Amino acid sequence: MDSIKQAVELARAAEVVHRPGVLSGSALAANGPLQRSAESPINEVRLRADHLEANRIVAYGTSGPNGRYYDMLRTQVLQEMDKKSWQFLAVTSPTAGCGKTVTACNLALSISRLPERSVLLVDLDLRRPAVGNYLGIDGNGGVLDVLEGRTPLSSAVLQASIGPNNMLVLPGSVSSNSSEWMASQTMGALLQTIKRDFRSRIVIFDLPPMLLGDDVISILPRMDAALLVAGVGSTTVSDIKECQRHLRRTTVVRVVVNKSTEAAGSYYGYY
Ligand SMILES: Nc1ncnc2c1ncn2[C@@H]1O[C@H](COP(=O)(O)OP(=O)(O)OP(=O)(O)O)[C@@H](O)[C@H]1O
Ligand SMILES: [Mg+2]
Repeated sequence: MDSIKQAVELARAAEVVHRPGVLSGSALAANGPLQRSAESPINEVRLRADHLEANRIVAYGTSGPNGRYYDMLRTQVLQEMDKKSWQFLAVTSPTAGCGKTVTACNLALSISRLPERSVLLVDLDLRRPAVGNYLGIDGNGGVLDVLEGRTPLSSAVLQASIGPNNMLVLPGSVSSNSSEWMASQTMGALLQTIKRDFRSRIVIFDLPPMLLGDDVISILPRMDAALLVAGVGSTTVSDIKECQRHLRRTTVVRVVVNKSTEAAGSYYGYY
């Protein structure tokens, strides 16, 4: 089956999963006063455009058509989240390699370019963390150091800048106990702290695949909404249906049908 047909099939399957919540609640408050303790990251890094491009991270500027697709995704996601004043967005996919990390990084950078928005990108893929590599930053122990009490959250969070824009990043690290960490009270406490200390920010969590362990199932109840990334060629309709069972209690703000490269001029498809 060719790539476009597969993308259309996935989009049809995604229709069932994607069911944004009923409109209610007030819009997300504009950035309030910053929380000085957590919002004064010690470590600042400048991102390099050539490194980003080499890793398909393109939404740091408005120049290319690919960046504009992420801006469209950003607007759609923020519209859904603002309706409920939501802050936490999980980025996941049915199986590995669908483009979660590329999507999460691009979405975060795109949001960071909005003058009245700010974003924290958290790498919560303790199996295959890649945010640091894709952005070209060394997070040392990152989130695992925080979970294990070696580093305070405020020191592990980096301020990543490119041009006039910046975002905060909590890089990831590999743990052989990923599943246990995701279900732990320590993780719950960390997420509560993030919610409190970064309350003016949209927080994007790059997660592992849904169907390759229980990590995502454990963490989903702590998220406000999810973005599902399906990969043409790697995600099947039955994968999406299986995800749907786990996503019954989670609002899926968008499904990205990724890697449908044969669609003319289209880098990403959204549903
Ligand atoms: N739209 C796209 N077109 C072509 N290649 C892509 C696209 N999006 C991502 N890729 C490539 O696919 C590979 C996997 O992407 P990425 O690491 O973002 O996936 P992932 O879902 O986070 O993987 P994992 O399950 O390992 O965390 C990378 O080599 C990335 O450059
Ligand atoms: Mg990834």
